[in-house]
Amino acid sequence: MTATDPIHFVGIDVAYFIASLLLALGLRYMSSPTRARSSIWYAGAGMVIAIGATLLIDGDSGRRVLIPIAMFIGASFAYVQSRKVSMTGAPALIALYNGLGGAAAAGIALVELLRAAEHTSSLRVLAIVGALAGTVSFAGSTMAWIKLRSNMRRSVPFPNRQVVYLASMVLLFLVGLVLAYSNTSHPVLLMFFVLLALFFGISMTLPIAAADLPVLISLYNAMTGLAVGFEGFVLGNPAMMVAGTLVFASGALLTRLMAKAVNRRLSEIMYSGFGVSGDELSTTSKAGFVNEIEAHDAAASMAFARRVIIVPGYGMAIAQAQHKLRELTQLLDERGVQTAFAIHPVAGRMPGHMNVLLADAGVPYEKIADLSAINEEFSQADVALVVGANDTVNPSARTDVNSPIYGMPVMNVDQAGSVILLKRGDGRGYADVPNPLLEAPGTRVLMGDAMMSLQALITSIKAID
Ligand code: TAP
Repeated sequence: MTATDPIHFVGIDVAYFIASLLLALGLRYMSSPTRARSSIWYAGAGMVIAIGATLLIDGDSGRRVLIPIAMFIGASFAYVQSRKVSMTGAPALIALYNGLGGAAAAGIALVELLRAAEHTSSLRVLAIVGALAGTVSFAGSTMAWIKLRSNMRRSVPFPNRQVVYLASMVLLFLVGLVLAYSNTSHPVLLMFFVLLALFFGISMTLPIAAADLPVLISLYNAMTGLAVGFEGFVLGNPAMMVAGTLVFASGALLTRLMAKAVNRRLSEIMYSGFGVSGDELSTTSKAGFVNEIEAHDAAASMAFARRVIIVPGYGMAIAQAQHKLRELTQLLDERGVQTAFAIHPVAGRMPGHMNVLLADAGVPYEKIADLSAINEEFSQADVALVVGANDTVNPSARTDVNSPIYGMPVMNVDQAGSVILLKRGDGRGYADVPNPLLEAPGTRVLMGDAMMSLQALITSIKAID
């Protein structure tokens, strides 16, 4: 078959159509815990078909060599990284992959803008917006990756931030206008545009701290989708148009949901310098006086309770203690204690982190409730068992206007009859702010790694007749 063969072209369009359907199905199934695993296969098959169809397009034989080489390098890197990444390192890796997607879309835009004369001005506008979104997403996601990897939780402020933002936005707009409405290519101006967009992405991410970083990562995800979708229009590639639009729409929805979960407006996160500055944070990481409890006493108070609500957090993920936690709740259930899991939307280090771990441990879905569904029920619980959670149960978020997490809805664990909190020492969680819950009269702290503490609780409960 040749490039002029109509059957060939129809075949490629059909392949792109099937690829788009598979990508949409993959995304759809991701929202269901039971189908989440198969969703990866659907999306993967869609990608393979889309790439296969692209390889079959006649015209440039060079791409038939270059695409497989690029795929081999990318796939080998991803395979090695994904095999060795820990559950707690996954959010950082996802941020990095998202950034690379943005860079790829921006790369396509730059090549097309260097061939400016071949495109109409409308397509050049799409290419410019895609280049901007992709480059900002690349720079911002890479910065977020560095912050997550180095555990840099604090804000890195810089003076006159708003003025710098405004000035770079105006410059980006003006340079973009020249590039879009000029028939000839301007490599130097294009390079300036890219550098400015890189600067914009980095400076947008540096000052973000505490609960705001996950919202921004999700926004970058949406921007990558936008960039891919727009470049799909420039190339006339339907699979890219559909996949990009889907990623953009779902990323935008997730950003909205996460911003709502931490009670922030997106504009507040991006421009108001909301993140705490290094100076505002106390440098000590010591918790104040805490009431400790032994495992057998904690076990007894749960074994004779009527209702126990469990709040898992990042510490459970670190300790990989989800299986022990399920074993503990099974023991309590067998004793007639009503148990439930309360999941905060930003618990852990990635969206759905706790849900994934609990599903992995075989905790029934009907036992898991999100913040809005269960928060009113803490007042009827005898015990709130907090397993490696801190910021998401910090009551100062309700009252302390100076707290960087002020306004974020938190679990009302302090309204339960008593709180048993599992932690190892004086760590202060991701936001690095004091947590008055630790010193509250109703709170008892069981010190130690969550895995060991849960094992001790299980042993103690088994010993109770
Ligand atoms: P954190 O506030 O991070 O608190 C974790 C707690 O676990 C700390 O008190 C720590 O104290 C304890 N811990 C750590 N390792 C432990 C272990 N092996 N055994 C027992 N305890 C252990 O967790 P959270 O309440 O889940 O809140 C999540 C935070 O991460 C929020 O601020 C959120 O905004 C942020 N964040 C979330 C995401 C997403 S999308 N979920 C992404 C990025 C950032 P010790 O060190 O004393 O043990």
